[in-house]
Amino acid sequence: MSEIVRRIVRRWYHPSLLRSSGQYTWSPALQLHTSGTAMSVTQKDFENAMNQVKLLKKDPGNEVKLKLYALYKQATEGPCNIPKPGAFDFVNKAKWDAWNGLGSLPKETARQNYVDLVSSLSGPSSESSSQVKPGADSKQEGYENLLVTSEDRITKILLNRPTKKNAITTQMYHEIMLALKAASQDDSVLTVLTGSGDYYCSGNDLTNFTDIPPGGVEEKAKNSSFLLRDFVNCFIDFPKPLVAVVNGPAVGISVTILGLFDIVYASDRATFHTPFSHLGQSPEGCSSYTFPKIMGSSKAAEMLIFGKKLTAGEACAQGLVTQVFPDSTFQKEVWTRLKAYSKLPPNAMRISKEIIRKNEKEKLHAVNAEECNVLLSRWQSDECMNAVVNFLSRKAKL
Ligand code: COA
Repeated sequence: MSEIVRRIVRRWYHPSLLRSSGQYTWSPALQLHTSGTAMSVTQKDFENAMNQVKLLKKDPGNEVKLKLYALYKQATEGPCNIPKPGAFDFVNKAKWDAWNGLGSLPKETARQNYVDLVSSLSGPSSESSSQVKPGADSKQEGYENLLVTSEDRITKILLNRPTKKNAITTQMYHEIMLALKAASQDDSVLTVLTGSGDYYCSGNDLTNFTDIPPGGVEEKAKNSSFLLRDFVNCFIDFPKPLVAVVNGPAVGISVTILGLFDIVYASDRATFHTPFSHLGQSPEGCSSYTFPKIMGSSKAAEMLIFGKKLTAGEACAQGLVTQVFPDSTFQKEVWTRLKAYSKLPPNAMRISKEIIRKNEKEKLHAVNAEECNVLLSRWQSDECMNAVVNFLSRKAKL
């Protein structure tokens, strides 16, 4: 979907916008069916349907948009309770007519009808309503660059900024932390991190370095160091089995935190690259501790000091990756396996993870704090500044 189309669709359907003004020019007498399965949809299904609407590829037309608007209002606020707009206020009158036309339809039925309508718009081949499809940097309510879905007892956190190779902005660090916190408390049993598009993740967004606060570079470095520490702590402390589905090349922080995951599945297209020296930086994500432990100190040094890029096969041979799959069958094979794992008793899995990890936790927190402290000065170094400037002026790529 083009950016323009997506913007329009978002504008039409975003609930907060639906609550305010709109652009309707057509005023239908609505004939809505009531579904026999009313009350069977959950609030989550309803929210997922709202998200699906924002991702529709085709504009469904004014009539359908009015139906969606009316059902949304009925489902969230009940029968129309606002004064009828004046005859010449065409847009708001059309919306009022649509909402008012639903009479006293119960909220639950409106919610069900909304979900049914969205599902019919998405077409028969669409996935279930609890899934949100990724788009070219499309947005999900509450997240700017993530799509978070829960299905089959698996919460999937999808980095969804494919045009920037899923580079992690400051906001995304916060969003990932939020998503992990939510996943730790929801009723899923496995949590998956993966990427949208051809990359898994190209690491820290290097433009993060250009957003300098009034306190200058030092303040920026301090803020970044705190943020990184909190971010990595979320992975260290995550209580449920955590799986990385590495769909393509992975760079920097997206590689270093892999040592904190319980399983890492990789497409044979994936590569693993930690070019810290090239960037005047130093290892993070506890990799200064986990990598030597996982692959031995000399292999770790080749990656972390010399920036050797590993193929998926090499990363698997060195123990960083659990298993590599052919790219053509990657998604199918991995998700089939994860769905099978998700049926295992959740408490047993959580307790097993806890006992495997618990003796390391204190150490990992200490390593994380130290790495962030070292980076605090690295980020203020000429070596780092020059590398960032080179990237931003397109002189350097990995
Ligand atoms: N930070 C900021 N922007 C990034 C990025 C990053 N880490 N990785 C990719 N992008 C942006 C590119 O600037 C480009 O933006 P543009 O379309 O506005 O020009 C876009 O994503 C697509 O990347 P591009 O470089 O055109 O794709 P490519 O396939 O030729 O190269 C990379 C991909 C990842 C090899 C290259 O973008 C790169 O070297 N990125 C820097 C990675 C890095 O150093 N990460 C930090 C590690 S600590």
